[in-house]
Amino acid sequence: MSHAGSLAETRACVFDAYGTLFDVHSAVRRHAGALGGAGDSLSATWRQKQLEWTWLRSLMGAHADFWAVTAAALDYAMERHGHDSVDLRQRLLDAYLELEPYPEVADTLTQLRATGRGLAVLSNGAPSMLAAAVANAGLQQTLDHVLSVEEVGIYKPDARVYQLACDRLGLPPSAICFLSSNGWDAHGAAHFGFQVVWINRFDQPAERLPGRPLAVIRTLDALPPLLAA
Ligand code: LAC
Repeated sequence: MSHAGSLAETRACVFDAYGTLFDVHSAVRRHAGALGGAGDSLSATWRQKQLEWTWLRSLMGAHADFWAVTAAALDYAMERHGHDSVDLRQRLLDAYLELEPYPEVADTLTQLRATGRGLAVLSNGAPSMLAAAVANAGLQQTLDHVLSVEEVGIYKPDARVYQLACDRLGLPPSAICFLSSNGWDAHGAAHFGFQVVWINRFDQPAERLPGRPLAVIRTLDALPPLLAA
């Protein structure tokens, strides 16, 4: 395969967090009973608005951290779906700090670590959110760095975010394998110059955006063989 050489030569794996390592819909699932059938739809609205507002805030030059954006997006989603319980809002936000990791994450990260690669998270998440999610998933010892866009004050896919990983890992983009389930993030990272594998968990069509992922897999456990090729 044409991508084999470049992926095999990478020295670090850098992971998107939300949707890639952590299941963002697990917060609503935990409280599905209180949402009376609107759970899936509310969760989709919550995620969509959360992301849209990161892009729009970056374009507006009006950054607010991801915890504030996440809470505001939940307020929008609850209003759209006719829920106004303050208690439920708090429980959903609390659950967002304890998102379930996807089942293959811990084992795959351990395997990747054994290849000698550095492992990092690079996420929109605010540092406290990321620390909570990483600790809840038991991944603290497996990751060398947990990097937040708060260090640069703008959201993905701004190049300054991807550059942060290069700076902190001391590696050029071509030596970094970047993994994201978010198609737009995969394209942004590839456009920046990372070696990108798109984790297409939700069987989505390819984004029509600049940048081209080198490979597409469905779950993270398909990654180690690609890096060994
Ligand atoms: C993140 C968003 C894109 O973790 O899910 O950066």
